Amino acid sequence: MTLKSSARILAITVICSVGICLAQHASLGQRGPLPAGQWRLDGSPLADGVQNVSNATAAAKVGTITWGPGFVGKQALDLHGNGCLQIDNPPIDLSRSYTITAWVKVNHLGGWQTFVSDDGPVQSGFFLQLRDDTDTFGFVVTHHGEGLPNAVVSSTDVPTPGKWYHLAGVYDSLHHSVQLFVNGKLQGNVYCAPTPPVDGPLVIGRGRFGHGPVDWVHGSIEDVRAYQAALTPADIAAVAGPMVAKAGKLGEVVDAGPVPLTIHANETAVHVSPTLYGLMTEEINHSYDGGIYAELIQNRIFKDNASTPAHWSLVTTGGGTGNISLDHSHPINKALTTCLKLDAEPGHAGAEVGVANDGFWGVPLRPHTQYRISFFARTAPGFHGSLNVALEAANGSRIYASGSFKHLTTAWHWYHTTLKTGGMSASLANRFVITTNGTGDLYFNLVSVKPPTFNNRPNGTRPYIMKMLAAMKPKFLRLPGGNYLEGNTIKERFNWKKTLGPLQDRPGHQGPWGYRSSDGLGLLEFMEWCQDLHMQPVLAVYAGYSLQGQHVPPGPQLAPYVKSALEEIQYVTGPVTSKWGAVRAKDGHPAPFPLKYVEIGNEDFFDRSHSYDGRFAQFYHAIKAKYPQLQLIATMPVQSVVPDVIDEHYYMPPVAFERAAHKYDTYSRTGPKIFVGEWASREGHPTPDMNSALGDAAWMTGMERNSDIVIMNAYAPLQVLIHHGPSQKRTNLIGYNGLQAYGSPSYWAQVMFSSYLGNIVPHFTLGKAQDLFCSVTRDSKTGTLYIKLVNTARNRRVVHVSLDQSEKIASTGTLIELTAKNRTSTNTMSDPRHVVPLTKVIHNLGPRFTLHVDPISVNVIVINRRR
Ligand code: AHR
Repeated sequence: MTLKSSARILAITVICSVGICLAQHASLGQRGPLPAGQWRLDGSPLADGVQNVSNATAAAKVGTITWGPGFVGKQALDLHGNGCLQIDNPPIDLSRSYTITAWVKVNHLGGWQTFVSDDGPVQSGFFLQLRDDTDTFGFVVTHHGEGLPNAVVSSTDVPTPGKWYHLAGVYDSLHHSVQLFVNGKLQGNVYCAPTPPVDGPLVIGRGRFGHGPVDWVHGSIEDVRAYQAALTPADIAAVAGPMVAKAGKLGEVVDAGPVPLTIHANETAVHVSPTLYGLMTEEINHSYDGGIYAELIQNRIFKDNASTPAHWSLVTTGGGTGNISLDHSHPINKALTTCLKLDAEPGHAGAEVGVANDGFWGVPLRPHTQYRISFFARTAPGFHGSLNVALEAANGSRIYASGSFKHLTTAWHWYHTTLKTGGMSASLANRFVITTNGTGDLYFNLVSVKPPTFNNRPNGTRPYIMKMLAAMKPKFLRLPGGNYLEGNTIKERFNWKKTLGPLQDRPGHQGPWGYRSSDGLGLLEFMEWCQDLHMQPVLAVYAGYSLQGQHVPPGPQLAPYVKSALEEIQYVTGPVTSKWGAVRAKDGHPAPFPLKYVEIGNEDFFDRSHSYDGRFAQFYHAIKAKYPQLQLIATMPVQSVVPDVIDEHYYMPPVAFERAAHKYDTYSRTGPKIFVGEWASREGHPTPDMNSALGDAAWMTGMERNSDIVIMNAYAPLQVLIHHGPSQKRTNLIGYNGLQAYGSPSYWAQVMFSSYLGNIVPHFTLGKAQDLFCSVTRDSKTGTLYIKLVNTARNRRVVHVSLDQSEKIASTGTLIELTAKNRTSTNTMSDPRHVVPLTKVIHNLGPRFTLHVDPISVNVIVINRRR
């Protein structure tokens, strides 16, 4: 036992004598068991300046505290975000059972607010608090530096600002549990490992985290009590007393004051950019391989790992033996230089030896579905035997489809077939195997299994992911990245020429996100993706800067890269009579693709050599000279020329997007247009939660209102393959595995914003209302009006809408609403539709009508013209 903890026991002994004093209080009308310490905080002054601290322990005042009207007593402690009370020598030992109770009232939700805590060296030993992430009350018991998770209990619902609540946090060292009670009602009970003692002061009005004070309260606190016992529910009901009947109700929604929204629907403020909403894509989080690109075999050309055939394993049946290894001595061409060698020893008739691929963390198989199988194979001289291919359960227990090839040769030969599954349950836990009954060496390369694809393209995309993207009604695709365009080094950039033609000519390359790319999704496939979803490409060309800092200086050294960009543009747009247009035609697409926007580089503000100004100018002049119709996008402000568009990127917490929602209202209209080419509210993993959707939606109202200047925007990252391994970014819009995809709340907010969009923004004004964000657009042909309202607050908002009296609108309209119980509510693979928009009919519309906007909600109100 340390000297300090002995001192703690001494303090407890002293407090026991205070307990006797409190027993007298009890006989004067106090209900329930006797606390070890009590701070009524109801206003009678003490010598130390803090009022009515009714035990013998001193409470020091820190920062600003004032006194306001009480709820159970005459007065209460009022805190304003910078004041607290500190009680040295707290009367309880946190390693034994204890209970903390308090009456609390918050002025507003948002932010962590800790009513009572006990300072540990790094963080509080417990926090009785309001949580920022859920807006609920919480009782958290921590374990200092012992690597154990905190025990966290939250209230089932959200409190109402301005109402009083009785809180009780119970730590029971005997039953290893932590409980939270609100107004005497149990909210939750969780397991808690034994906790160490804490030596710091008891604190009323803040917590401690990361060695410093945090979570200051904006509100009032009264009658704080500390008990050296785990109180029972009956005890707590007695402590809370009869005032509970008058206390606030959890989950009660209160209307905030009405806000006027005045719309002059026939007066155009700005025109909505026809390309406002689009997609940003790159190979990150297995967005392409294992994602939208339909290939089911991982490491199909055996280059993913230089020393071992990753994702491949040896399979044997009937007692056969064998070995697999990488082989570099049988290249097929310059691209396919590494192959898989199988040394097969079946040993006796009926035995088989082979190789299996486990796909992208599973080979997804569906019932009654055709799979296209292909691979290159050759044998060593003297090999006799045949090959069997099968789609089967991961443990080999069931074969869902199989086929065979009889005539093998010592020269490379391309084998292909289709396999069709029968009745089965769709599942991921499968593998693809190639086995032989022959003895000797076999070599394999470019092993491919393709499921049905979107629009049946032979080298195409996964339909269920494409459908989710299509629902976003994207107008453009920014491709191929991002960092993926730049590569870690110049050598590892996205070298478009190496992504063309038959798959056997594509060597793939190391991407910047920790894994290799097959380049199965090459430049042509990006264009076909655009075509399939009716998007225009925003083609990003490599501009001479790579992520680890290599750069190509402007001038003659940059010239080959500028030439390559011009050729790339010709590949996309040139007639078949042009050199690169002819290559495109040979690749299977004679018709040129439309192209309006070309982006020069990516995030070149990271280039410490500050060469971007010169590099951009060199690309700009060369491209404009040949393609004057193209709009050129710079990745940062430049001086030497005026770019047509500047790409801005924002990754921030939801609240920062809410604060930035008016950024473009006052933005200069004289400079280049803005492409917000990457942005995302980053809360939630692996996909964003409702709070992120609120931040995103608030931000989108700002881009929409100002879409004369913000002509394009795209969320990033767009996709994440959910598997046991890590993703490269924590917060990504759409999650999927090999069988299904789901949209996050942020995805649904995007769908709502891009699906209900007019072509003009009429003049409108919204009354002052923090936490309420609005955009209005109108379809000038049909007259349909789209009102978007985002309420990030916990109050219901009453919005009085006024249209011009001359407006003839239908009396019923439609409300599309995205809301959730909590800010942290989200969608997952197993609960993909937990937070989705719901559509309702709304009545009694006219030139004046009232909308009730739910707490934490994203809303689109569609109002049609009266016929
Ligand atoms: O979206 C992920 C990355 O973030 C992009 O590749 C890059 O442009 C940005 O820094």
